[in-house]
Amino acid sequence: MPQPDSIRILGVAGSLRRASFNRALLAAAGELCPDGVTLDLFDLAPLPLYDQDLDTEDAPPAVQAFRDALWAADALLISTPEYNHGVPGVLKNALDWAPRPPQHQPLSGLPVAVMGASPYTWGTARAQAHLRQTLVFPSALVLSQPEVLVANAAGKFDAGGHLTDDATRTFVHELLVALAVWTRRVGRPRRESGPLTHA
Ligand SMILES: Cc1cc2nc3c(=O)[nH]c(=O)nc-3n(C[C@H](O)[C@H](O)[C@H](O)COP(=O)(O)O)c2cc1C
Repeated sequence: MPQPDSIRILGVAGSLRRASFNRALLAAAGELCPDGVTLDLFDLAPLPLYDQDLDTEDAPPAVQAFRDALWAADALLISTPEYNHGVPGVLKNALDWAPRPPQHQPLSGLPVAVMGASPYTWGTARAQAHLRQTLVFPSALVLSQPEVLVANAAGKFDAGGHLTDDATRTFVHELLVALAVWTRRVGRPRRESGPLTHA
């Protein structure tokens, strides 16, 4: 299957918080992309709560924009917080909207990498396991390794939200390199179906 030389990754964070560690981690990923790889961020804030009555051919504009951005991407990078040992509602809501209609939906065959940051010691391990489970049914192709679990996040970012921890920067770069290899190996042809929305 022909694959693009350049790889466009769509990045989403499962936190709407302005000073979010996970948004900051995603911003750091944008700085750490290997050659030929770019990262565009998509803000999940405008997505309404999932309502199957609204899930018609005329989906809400924010939902259509998210689906279009997924179709236009070669891969997806998700940075998730952990809420109550699981995926935050903001992210789960987006992942409920995305793979519709089920017969022809943008997560199917899409290479995905996950990472996450928490101020505590487990570094989102349980949320990432939950996220991987959620991505099975839509047939996303989730990269298994490396795992990027950013524990004790408060000590790894400066006051401006810049990722300062060198080891974590290396882990994020290695994840992006692995996602690029994975995308070139298993990804689908890119479909230009809509403009990317930048956060
Ligand atoms: C409702 C709620 C539940 C949380 N549950 C967990 C948890 O299970 N594990 C964890 O490590 N942190 C938990 N936290 C703390 C979050 O990791 C912390 O708020 C983190 O900063 C959220 O990510 P963000 O910085 O990207 O917004 C929880 C926070 C909230 C608000």
